[in-house]
Amino acid sequence: MSDHPEGMDHLLGRVRELHERLPVNLSFLEVGSYQGETTCDIIRILRGSERWLFTVDPYGSKPYLLDGQFWAGDQTLYTDHTYRRAIRAMATAADEHAVNHAYYRMTSLDFFEVIRRFDFWYRGEIFPLRFGFVYLDGAHEPATVRKEVEWLREHMREGLIVVDDWHHVADLPFRGEVLHDRCYLPIG
Ligand SMILES: C[S@@+](CC[C@H](N)C(=O)[O-])C[C@H]1O[C@@H](n2cnc3c(N)ncnc32)[C@H](O)[C@@H]1O
Repeated sequence: MSDHPEGMDHLLGRVRELHERLPVNLSFLEVGSYQGETTCDIIRILRGSERWLFTVDPYGSKPYLLDGQFWAGDQTLYTDHTYRRAIRAMATAADEHAVNHAYYRMTSLDFFEVIRRFDFWYRGEIFPLRFGFVYLDGAHEPATVRKEVEWLREHMREGLIVVDDWHHVADLPFRGEVLHDRCYLPIG
């Protein structure tokens, strides 16, 4: 269960539908994996398949920006302890359900830079990282979410981007179906 449970059934239903429909070489990505709870839900959906799931989160002491300022909430929420627990939860679920999962400790925008510059090997070949489903639930500041969506729209051919906590970024020039504060942006 995520930190924002309303509408999770709908979100996971869309993930299931995309997993059934999209070519298996299109990977899935969650930006902002936090405790790994949604990641583990997605892992259960991908059970036993060849599809790769990527997760990205800087964790640690990276200050959390919300509505243009550092979040005044509980700063201990995103700690290295969270990171260790999350890594264990995600790795255990991926192992139990025989799912290809790779986690990167960095921001989404760093990740987009990094994957341009390195070779990801899978089954003896360089595997191109292309995404069919992306759950954007990392930074909730408009400037970052805008760059995330722009990069993804440039690099995705089909599938779905879901932007979580839409009320923080609703002024962005992207239009999609909004359900339970998540914006569903279809691609292709
Ligand atoms: C709301 S939580 C994510 C909840 C999780 N998706 C779930 O459903 O349980 C936000 C997470 O985003 C991470 N984060 C913050 N800025 C980020 C960025 N620029 N790129 C990737 N992740 C980021 C934080 O470290 C935090 O763990």
